[in-house]
Amino acid sequence: MQKLYVVMVGLPARGKSTLARRICQGLKEEGVRARIFNNGELRRTLYGSDSTDADFYDPRDLEHKRMREQIAMRNIKRAQGWLDSDGAVAVLDATNASRERRQLIETMLTDHPVLFVECVNEDAMLQDICIRRKTALPEFASYTQEEALASFLKRIRYYESIYVPLSSEKYWLRVDSTANRILEEHALEGSPFYPAIRQILVDVPASNLYLARHGQTEFNVQGRIGGDPLLTDKGRAQANALAEHFRSKRIDWVFTSTRRRSHETAAPVLRDRPNVHTLAMPEFDELWAGDCEGMRYCDIRETMPHVSEGRNADKYGYCYPNGESYAMLNERVKSGLRRALFLAGDSSILIIGHQAINRVLLSLFLRCREADIPYIFIPQNEYYHISVTLRRKVFERIPYSQ
Ligand code: F6P
Repeated sequence: MQKLYVVMVGLPARGKSTLARRICQGLKEEGVRARIFNNGELRRTLYGSDSTDADFYDPRDLEHKRMREQIAMRNIKRAQGWLDSDGAVAVLDATNASRERRQLIETMLTDHPVLFVECVNEDAMLQDICIRRKTALPEFASYTQEEALASFLKRIRYYESIYVPLSSEKYWLRVDSTANRILEEHALEGSPFYPAIRQILVDVPASNLYLARHGQTEFNVQGRIGGDPLLTDKGRAQANALAEHFRSKRIDWVFTSTRRRSHETAAPVLRDRPNVHTLAMPEFDELWAGDCEGMRYCDIRETMPHVSEGRNADKYGYCYPNGESYAMLNERVKSGLRRALFLAGDSSILIIGHQAINRVLLSLFLRCREADIPYIFIPQNEYYHISVTLRRKVFERIPYSQ
């Protein structure tokens, strides 16, 4: 029977563990017996808070180097034991930053092929959030926020000093872990797991994505576009109904735009959920109508007929004077979704967006013609539920208020 070692590679906070979990979960869904062996978890079990100090990672400190090698060796042996018994794929999750460490792995693991997966994340905003998440872990409990951040950044610098990207290893993939994109690969031909892992890495995973639009605003009532209006009484009632509807559902992340109507709609959902992560993303701000911002559709028709005519002729491609088109939205919404999915991993996500934004978000999952995107139905009392895994694709529109 074919078996495989998958060895993660990358600096801290680059998305290795997220990808390791996706690989493992994706393979399990295919009926493959896969398991993760994580050096960080083993380190915390063996050495506890003694190993939180940045100097534990100083490559010149031989005593600590020996301790870190011992952790790596233990997991290498545990992974070997797993494949010796009935395991099929062992995922070694650690930085494995130096060539020396990877050579050790290749020398030790000769019984089955070794596939290295290097994670790259050049998105400064995502890096920053990942680092802050790491420093909020219990192992930094005795540090102040600033101390934890300084210590973790120092730890990263130590890893950077020994980091060598993959090149001379036999089989490997370099992945942009924030964009589901393979940057380079030295394929492992003939393994049944290689195409599956490749597919898992490039698939946009969204195990539970809820896509709601903000509640009704004064502008909606007046038929005005854009702006930064507040919710009406009806809009606030819709927001409360949304929160009530989700009370029994798990939500781990709530993403909003930077607009008040989006925040106001999110507020009741967040009220009793102190552990939910939340982030306002400008990528999810409504289509910018430029010179027409705040105008009523009827006034645009009357005073700027070329705008209405242009939109009627090609609503997807038409760009408001000094504003945006749906076609332009595509890139920024895609980048927002990429960031949201990277941050939330396979947890449950609620995005509270806007009419045009939600149309574009949906279009990233549905196969639809560009010309149809600006006409997708986005009500204010129903949300879309999207769940896309290797095996299952679910799209449903669910009502939550009158
Ligand atoms: O009318 C509400 C709104 O969110 C406006 O702010 C935005 O310009 C519009 O919807 C987008 O929809 P459409 O492209 O159909 O005008």
